[in-house]
Amino acid sequence: MPYDPMKAFNRKLAAQFLTSWRSCAETADLDQIAGAKTTLGEGGTPVDLRCQINARYGRFLYVLVRMFQPSRVIEIGMANGISSAYIAKAQNTYERTQNAHTIIDPFQSSQWHNAGKALLKRLELDHNVKVVEDYSLRAIPEMEKRGEKFDFAFIDGNHCLDYTLSDLVLTDRVLHVGGLIVLDDSTDFGVKPAVKYIDKHRHNLKRIKFDISIGHFIREVTNRRRRLTVYQKSSEDERGADGI
Ligand SMILES: C[S@@+](CC[C@H](N)C(=O)[O-])C[C@H]1O[C@@H](n2cnc3c(N)ncnc32)[C@H](O)[C@@H]1O
Repeated sequence: MPYDPMKAFNRKLAAQFLTSWRSCAETADLDQIAGAKTTLGEGGTPVDLRCQINARYGRFLYVLVRMFQPSRVIEIGMANGISSAYIAKAQNTYERTQNAHTIIDPFQSSQWHNAGKALLKRLELDHNVKVVEDYSLRAIPEMEKRGEKFDFAFIDGNHCLDYTLSDLVLTDRVLHVGGLIVLDDSTDFGVKPAVKYIDKHRHNLKRIKFDISIGHFIREVTNRRRRLTVYQKSSEDERGADGI
């Protein structure tokens, strides 16, 4: 049964998610690509594969999208298109709207030789995908002005604290209530303090904890193994300038 996005992503759903994640065998093709050393840019030029999400977390994204079935996804940071391919493949498992997947990356052609776009094309996953070659802090406000809304966001762009917070604020503004935000590299230098800030001050973004408190503590504090952090938007942000 599809997940109802208006329902809180509670422990029971989190447990169901973990079981599906562990047993997911549908992405073997992508897992192999994610683990390779090179990929192909536009025109077939070999390009080093770097910065991508690994297969384990690619499957995490795949299972979450398949379970949540968002009509529209916004993704920040495409690079060679590995995370985009997991998301697009998951969106292929259910019926969704046109422009179901919008990806923002200012350097797709200049630094990545359009390898992300080329990968989606090779895998025939490029229909319903729109790539916006601009900075997220310019592109998302334009989307907001046009009244665009999303149900799922994957943030993996500039990892500095200021840019990560900007991505979170802007994404929240175009996300439907009930929608999910997934942050990559959440133990990275700039993303880690952003998670701390959001956890403490953003009461409309509820962190989804995938395990019990002790397991969470061991994984995040002792092992520092958290890679992806997931929030669900519970309401609009109504704070004023005084933070209340
Ligand atoms: C870690 S890589 C993304 C990897 C990709 N998500 C994957 O797993 O395959 C970070 C990407 O963010 C892009 N980027 C950097 N600054 C950005 C910005 N201000 N807005 C959007 N994307 C940005 C870079 O060009 C790069 O492609």
